[in-house]
Amino acid sequence: MRKVQPLLLFAAVAAMVGATAGQLAWWESGVIYQIYPRSFKDSDGDGVGDLNGVIEKLDYLQSLGVAAIWLSPIYKSPMADYGYDISDYREIDPLFGTMEDFEALLEGAHQRDIKVILDFVPNHSSDEHEWFIASSDPTHENYEKYKDYYVWVDAKEDGSVPNNWPTQFDQQTAWEWNEARQQYYLHQFHIKQPDLNYRNPEVLAEMQDNLRFWLDKGVDGYRMDAVTFLVEAEGFPDGVPGDIDQPYMHQPESYVIVQEFRAVVDEYDNRTMITESYGTVDQILGYYGNETNPGADFSFNFLLITDVNASSTAADFAEVIGNWIDIVDERGVWSNWVIGNHDQHRVASRFSPDLVDGMNMLVTLLPGTAVTYNGEEIGMEDNYNMTCEIATDPAGCWDGVTLGNSRDPERTPFQWDNSTNAGFSTANETWLPVNENYVTLNAEAQEEAGRSHLKTYRQLVALREEPAVQTGVTAVNSSAQVIAFSRTADDGTEVVVAVNVGDRPDVVDLYEMLGLSQRSFVISAASVSSIRQPGGPADPGLLVFSPHESVTLISTPVELEEY
Ligand code: GLC
Ligand code: MG
Repeated sequence: MRKVQPLLLFAAVAAMVGATAGQLAWWESGVIYQIYPRSFKDSDGDGVGDLNGVIEKLDYLQSLGVAAIWLSPIYKSPMADYGYDISDYREIDPLFGTMEDFEALLEGAHQRDIKVILDFVPNHSSDEHEWFIASSDPTHENYEKYKDYYVWVDAKEDGSVPNNWPTQFDQQTAWEWNEARQQYYLHQFHIKQPDLNYRNPEVLAEMQDNLRFWLDKGVDGYRMDAVTFLVEAEGFPDGVPGDIDQPYMHQPESYVIVQEFRAVVDEYDNRTMITESYGTVDQILGYYGNETNPGADFSFNFLLITDVNASSTAADFAEVIGNWIDIVDERGVWSNWVIGNHDQHRVASRFSPDLVDGMNMLVTLLPGTAVTYNGEEIGMEDNYNMTCEIATDPAGCWDGVTLGNSRDPERTPFQWDNSTNAGFSTANETWLPVNENYVTLNAEAQEEAGRSHLKTYRQLVALREEPAVQTGVTAVNSSAQVIAFSRTADDGTEVVVAVNVGDRPDVVDLYEMLGLSQRSFVISAASVSSIRQPGGPADPGLLVFSPHESVTLISTPVELEEY
């Protein structure tokens, strides 16, 4: 047998040691499933998904075993950024349904023991929000009240924009001229997404009230959008292009605003707050706040999106994963893993369709909360079969012809079955085209198949109930091709995951690689094309992996000596 590398990393997750599964909060123990409502299920045949569509699929969601659903924005919006541009924070957009539909969804989810997390977009409103309408018009009767609700800055002496800040969408200037005020306003995303001014305490107070509105209705928490950009550096200095630190990102005041939001969420029992921010690990960890001023329960960990890709080696994976676990452990904060969302290309397309199960194993069984984007449980793929006339995401199609950074390919309709429009909608045309692979790649087919991504996913979610996965100690290591880790419970039970991220076969000794106890093991889940069967025996001492094969093992109470 080939020699494996010595143990690279061995991280004890101190924050979790001593806690038992029963003590974890629902947002810690469970899986959070992101629904992109436009694309999940269309109940009224207009080609766009809606709240009643989600209601129709509550049984499916329950069958997955997820603890919570997070809904991308459903508020009133002109949809310049598909709901991330909100014109009324307290209304449901008619495209998605009514307030009654929302209340029915909340009730239906709660009946099934599924929590509901809303997306909250604090950094910017729509330019069609009444605040901006008043703020941008000195003749408006409410101008005085709202004039400082947004970030308004004078032109430079030569009339040019205040500084070199770019938008996140197209790298063009983030400043838009307003004739009426003779000033520029800041928009770090679309022109129709003016930045709110959090240096004005009234803005914070109004947004805190908007948070209470839905918490009063019984929602279980928030995913806070784009907190990176909440407050800008005073004096609006130029940024140095390419720098990790930018005057419009991760400002100390932004961490404080997150804590102010947290204080509102803490007025209620058993609710959660999660923040979305891309940055260095240190920048991200800032949103957790501190003991005296807590922030998010967790800040999304996007490392499996940003720091590994199809050409990463097993050692790269082990390093990225091990570093995060060590840092989280050191800081004593809660961990989490995210592999996809509505802004990122599909896992099957970023890595490989036959790595879907392996990636789901990493996300669901590494320490901390797991977050799944709808469709990743069946291994949906990006859909590039569209032109810029249809693909209208403002992040792409800058020249009108090339999709570029468009996020539409990962936002196409959920593939439920092999009927028209993949069972998503009865419309003649759906808002984005259904991927043609729906005929074979769909939830119903995977329900019927003996083995499928969907069935593997359910096994993984169920495995999270194991104390080893909830609170166990973690060891991580890699061979030439295989990234492996173990989770060990207080009683010695071990759950082991091994994923061949390479495209060559490999033979590993997991006893040696992970320092496992000398117990016997059975397969608890395996990638769809693996020759191994869930429930079958496995010898961790001599595991032959085919390319992209992944397995999950669980120890039996039997010591090998007694075997
Ligand atoms: C977040 C959202 C993204 C949106 C942006 C602006 O990154 O996930 O979809 O475009 O914020 O709100
Ligand atoms: Mg509809």
